[in-house]
Formats: sequence, C-alpha cells, structure tokens
Amino acid sequence: MKIFAHRGASRYAPENTLPAFQLAHELGADGIELDIQLTKDLVPVIIHDENIRRTTNGTGFVQNYTLEELQEFDAGYWFSKRYIHTPILSLKEFLQWVEDKDMLLNIELKTNVIEYPTIERRVVELLEEHDMVHRTVISSFNPYTIQRLRDISDVIELAWLTKSQVKDIGDFLNDLGANAIHIKSRLLSSKMVKHLLEQQIPFRVYTVNRVSLSRKCVTMGADGVFTDIPDIIKHNL
Ligand code: G3P
Ligand code: MG
Repeated sequence: MKIFAHRGASRYAPENTLPAFQLAHELGADGIELDIQLTKDLVPVIIHDENIRRTTNGTGFVQNYTLEELQEFDAGYWFSKRYIHTPILSLKEFLQWVEDKDMLLNIELKTNVIEYPTIERRVVELLEEHDMVHRTVISSFNPYTIQRLRDISDVIELAWLTKSQVKDIGDFLNDLGANAIHIKSRLLSSKMVKHLLEQQIPFRVYTVNRVSLSRKCVTMGADGVFTDIPDIIKHNL
C-alpha cells in the first residue's frame, strides 16, 4: 500500500509548501498529495483553500491575485516562526523540484467551489512538459473536472474524490472516465467499498492519521492512503 504525504508532511511543516514536500521526501513517503487553485493570470498554484486567509499572512481569493502578487505573501509563518518567508509555490516550481525524486504524485484540482476554466488543460500541459504523467494521479471532487481531464488525456490516471457513497459506483466511475476513487476514511466499511473490491477498482483513503486505521486500509485492500504523518504510518504498517 502506497503512503502519500497529505499536503506534504503537513503535521510537521506548513501544508502545501516546499518544506512540507521536502520533509515528505526525507521521511520516506511514497508520494505527495497537493491541492491546486488557479491565479488571476491563470497559473496553477499549490494551496488548499480558495481564500489565502487561513494559510498565509494575507487575505482575499487566489483568483484575484497574479502569481507575482501571491508570492509576496508568507505561507509559513502562520504554522511556526521557523517557517517565516516561505512562499506559495506554483505547480511548475514543484514539478521542477520533484522531477529528480522517485516519488508518486497526487494532484488534487480544487474545482468544487470555483470552476476555474482551463485549469484541467493547464495542469495536464505542465505534467506533459515535465514528463510526469506516468507517475501522477489527478483527483477532484468535481465530476465534471474528471470528465474534462479524460477528454484532454487518454492516458493519465484519474481518481474521483468522495465523502459519501454512490450507488452503482463502477458505472459512475466508468462514465466519468475515472480509473480509481479516493474515499473519506469513514466509508471504509461501506457497501460501496465492497462493490469496489468486487469490481477490482483501485481505491485510496484520506486522511489516515492513526496506525490502526492504516492497518485496516491494508486489510481492506486499499491501494494507498493520504496521511499528515507519513513516517509514523509507513513504519508501523
Ligand atoms: O485528496 C485527499 C484529500 O486531500 C481530500 O480532502 O480537503 O484534504 O483536500 P482535502
Ligand atoms: Mg487535498
């Protein structure tokens, strides 16, 4: 079972920043999960919320700032003084950093609140430019984003994200063009997971911050988990 560092090693360093990704790599995570929004000048950037308030020293919506303006803000100080002057990272900068590291990627497109026209194409183009398609799974809660991605690329792995059960899950995913599903951990014992197993559809589980839960994921046949503490989960499986 693959261990993805959720927003990087986000228990120990500010989520979705380079220090959190570097730590995930040092701690031996198999992969990194990160969240993407789009700037005013249409650049994919790594940040979880639509508004920068929670994770920077600024306020306002990502979509109302250019990349240059966004990178003036501090995305580390809120977490700890130690991380002062940590900028928001563009996806391109991240891909340049991860290129020579043996890591899987899960790029989550945050299109469930704001649709961000063209975000799907821009992200796939960056992955192609950096020759990263083969080790990436793109995910989204928004089913239309998954469909748009499938129209853009026949080959990229796609996962639909859900917090709740869906009937006829195999047909649903098939219609979207999704290869896999990422589920909230409370769904682990659901009927839906039984159907996923029967139909051999890969599933990964978020957010798994307890060793006992990670062991249950192994037993249930999960393909991967997303965790804020990749070191602890990996070494106690
Ligand atoms: O991709 C798994 C997980 O990150 C989804 O929820 O809110 O942490 O992005 P969230
Ligand atoms: Mg996420």
